[in-house]
Amino acid sequence: MDGLEPLKKKYLDGIMAASDESALEDLRLTAVGKKGEVALKMRELGKMTPEERQVAGPALNALKDEINSALAARKAALGDAALEERLRTEWLDVTLAGRPARQGTIHPVSQVSEEVTAIFADMGFSVAEGPQVESDWFNFDALNIPPEHPTRTEMDTFYMHRAEGDDRPPHVLRTHTSPVQIRHMQEFGAPCRIIAPGRVYRADYDQTHTPMFHQVEGLALGTDLSMANLKWVLEEFFSAFFGIKVKTRFRASHFPFTEPSAEVDIQCSWVNGQLRIGEGDGWMEVLGSGMVHPKVLAAGGVDSDAFQGFAFGMGIDRIAMLKYGIPDLRAFFDSDLRWLRHYGFSTLDQPNLHGGLNR
Ligand code: PHE
Repeated sequence: MDGLEPLKKKYLDGIMAASDESALEDLRLTAVGKKGEVALKMRELGKMTPEERQVAGPALNALKDEINSALAARKAALGDAALEERLRTEWLDVTLAGRPARQGTIHPVSQVSEEVTAIFADMGFSVAEGPQVESDWFNFDALNIPPEHPTRTEMDTFYMHRAEGDDRPPHVLRTHTSPVQIRHMQEFGAPCRIIAPGRVYRADYDQTHTPMFHQVEGLALGTDLSMANLKWVLEEFFSAFFGIKVKTRFRASHFPFTEPSAEVDIQCSWVNGQLRIGEGDGWMEVLGSGMVHPKVLAAGGVDSDAFQGFAFGMGIDRIAMLKYGIPDLRAFFDSDLRWLRHYGFSTLDQPNLHGGLNR
């Protein structure tokens, strides 16, 4: 049959030159499609003599096969080239260091609250809570601080605004965590062993005072508790918290809600202007405490003939400053990112006794 060689050359060259799949598809249709050139040639077979057909038939089939395999080969090659191109342009250097994700830090107050909670939990204390907006009854009266008592003004109390004609009893921003003592006694009675960490408010502002700060209250009631138990619990706490045996010194004091009352100092010294807790013969005041006053037990609905116990109140921010060497309390609440990154804790630093509480 004539003309097969030029046909073959035309298509094989065309296929080799095709630069994408749609060009290949056009070539396939015009060459070996139903109405393509090879099909037209096939039709001529009918007009041939049997002898001619015996030669032309296989030749046409062979041509068709050859074109089809050239198409398939070119298609595969184009696919490989496309992949090569992607690999070349979309490369990625897996040896480069990752971009650090910006992570927040745990505020020292949160961290120290967790540390305090972990230590007291180990001594059987659970956590109690109360509201920050408190009635003046819980904040004062129930704690044996009558209306005319100087403590109400000494504490520089914030009073909640009352609209004219609103004669509900006055509310305050709680000035200490002690009202949680009353709330807990009223709800759960005695015996008990709780701490109550939280925010408190007083109108005061200087290097060691901010209008909002944090306290942790302690309350333990039982049938045979004394100041000796209080002293043991506190020394146990401070030794665990500072990671070194810490002695305490009790100084007689006065709080309306405890009798007797004591202010507690921890042992410390200054070496070259640096504070060292748990060594030397200096003392630093850290908390107020005492045996719960019978009137306070009564306000909490606890029988003061059957139960007695101790209470204490300690500044969380203050012990955080002491433990982590933070000089100015005001910076605690400025939300300065540089300060937070410097004094903040990793979210993975979960305080617990076995981990040494981040000493
Ligand atoms: N509430 C007292 C204060 O804020 C501390 C305290 C608590 C003292 C419990 C004695 C007992 O100063």
